[in-house]
Amino acid sequence: MSLKNVRQIKEQVKNECQNLGHIDSWFYDKHLLAVEKYANFLLKKLPQADKEIVMLGVWLHDSQRFRGIKGDHQKMGAAEAKKIMLEYSYPTEMIEKVQGIILTHSCHGQMPKTLEGKILATADAMAHYANDFYLQIAVTGQRSLADFKLWALEKLNNDFNKKIFWPFARKEIREKHVVLMKLLTMK
Ligand SMILES: [Fe+2]
Ligand SMILES: [Fe+2]
Repeated sequence: MSLKNVRQIKEQVKNECQNLGHIDSWFYDKHLLAVEKYANFLLKKLPQADKEIVMLGVWLHDSQRFRGIKGDHQKMGAAEAKKIMLEYSYPTEMIEKVQGIILTHSCHGQMPKTLEGKILATADAMAHYANDFYLQIAVTGQRSLADFKLWALEKLNNDFNKKIFWPFARKEIREKHVVLMKLLTMK
């Protein structure tokens, strides 16, 4: 496994997030680093998973967003991931595995079938509970307060009920989930 490649891709993604101007400046620190943190937490509990596939998924799963590409978030993200992995001379088999986990990371439509796919979807969902992700989006997004609440409640439900594949992982963020649900439904 090439940790060097993963480190270089992480640096490249950091630069693209911070310099291309397609994504808010907080996205790398508050989302991608949080996905990395939770992916490592899950990998410790699930050591049979392929760490390099998971970590490549961590850095590349939102490439549609940080490259500012229009269209399907998962499909375009998988296409960009392929381009980036080819620059690092990854073999086709590896590229296809990473594309596979990117294509199911949102759990909209097709659900992840592999362990690595489930880890990426779970880490992505858990990351939304890290930092002040929802408050950040509330102040930088372009939605009205009512639309923000609807959007956030739907996201919280999808994350908590569909994207988190293990009870131990759900337990880890349950308290934050309850607080956020209370805040968003307060009358
Ligand atoms: Fe995503
Ligand atoms: Fe994400």
